[in-house]
Amino acid sequence: MERPIVLFGGTGQIGRELRLQLGAWWPVLAPPRDQVNLARPEEVTTYLRLARPSLIVNASAFTDVDAAEADATTAMTVNGHIPLMLAEEAFDRNIGLVHFSTDLVFDGRRGADPAPYREGDAPNPLNVYGRSMLRGESAIAYTDPPHLIFRTSRVFGLRGSNFLMDLVALAGSHDDINVVDDQIGSPTWSRAVAIAVNSILKDLDAPRSPIAMRERSGIYHLAAAGAVSWYGFAELVLSQAPASPYVDLASGRHPVLRAISSDSYPFRAARPTYTALSSRSAADAFGIDLPPWEQQLQSCLQAQPA
Ligand SMILES: NC(=O)c1ccc[n+]([C@@H]2O[C@H](COP(=O)([O-])OP(=O)(O)OC[C@H]3O[C@@H](n4cnc5c(N)ncnc54)[C@H](OP(=O)(O)O)[C@@H]3O)[C@@H](O)[C@H]2O)c1
Repeated sequence: MERPIVLFGGTGQIGRELRLQLGAWWPVLAPPRDQVNLARPEEVTTYLRLARPSLIVNASAFTDVDAAEADATTAMTVNGHIPLMLAEEAFDRNIGLVHFSTDLVFDGRRGADPAPYREGDAPNPLNVYGRSMLRGESAIAYTDPPHLIFRTSRVFGLRGSNFLMDLVALAGSHDDINVVDDQIGSPTWSRAVAIAVNSILKDLDAPRSPIAMRERSGIYHLAAAGAVSWYGFAELVLSQAPASPYVDLASGRHPVLRAISSDSYPFRAARPTYTALSSRSAADAFGIDLPPWEQQLQSCLQAQPA
């Protein structure tokens, strides 16, 4: 029998989608938090010893950017230390490790030329979450098992905790909604990421072929083409959501969106003003292209949630 892919974070936005995609062609084990708590690293070691994976996929993370400021220890454990452990396990077993990271490893201070960030640009995170994720990336690169690290951005979907779902909930109860207009990024649909990663892993035959992964090892940006502020994204969400069969936006409600600056919103964590990602390297290496964010939003609103 084939040894399974072990997927951590299978209940998250990307993980849930990925579990379905991968599960269509390879056995997948996705232990939930009550089976393997990533804040307790010893549980990971024990689980992997029993599961004997052919590939490890880590879609888990402590993703609450503001909560990470208050609980840096857990954020550093889950986002920084666990990736190191997974990399050591993958190295020792000579299997591949797939990991996700974030645009928030960048500081956004690109001056007058805001070209989308490339993989070679120097990271300089502004908050605990970004630092913890950068630590995870660095630990994997240093340990150097066959690995693919996909940095994505502003993940949305019709399930889980994300800006789109928060906005729809607010629209049901508020007449005025303030949204920051000075943080620019690339909103990316969780399913688009999962489809791309699944296709890459299938093409590489990753559970059978760590060598193919080794040849492509590295960091790849995987985000929607284009960039927009949260305010601009919110405008399109509210104009398109009423036509979605899957979004329960109270009919007849037309909340007013107000563009505000980050200074006037009490974020606990500092956030960069510009973190659009260029996914050109992933396109060159794997022949995949993620559609523009507007198209991804439209597809998301018309697709049945997984
Ligand atoms: N969300 C974004 O906007 C965004 C942007 C850029 C990059 N990313 C990266 O993309 C990846 C996936 O993000 P996502 O949005 O899909 O994440 P998500 O929806 O927040 O899900 C996080 C997953 O990690 C699990 N997890 C967190 N702490 C855990 C712990 N102590 N023990 C066990 N499981 C734990 C969660 O389990 P529970 O369901 O039990 O909580 C959940 O399955 C992450 O690496 C993230 O950093 C996300």
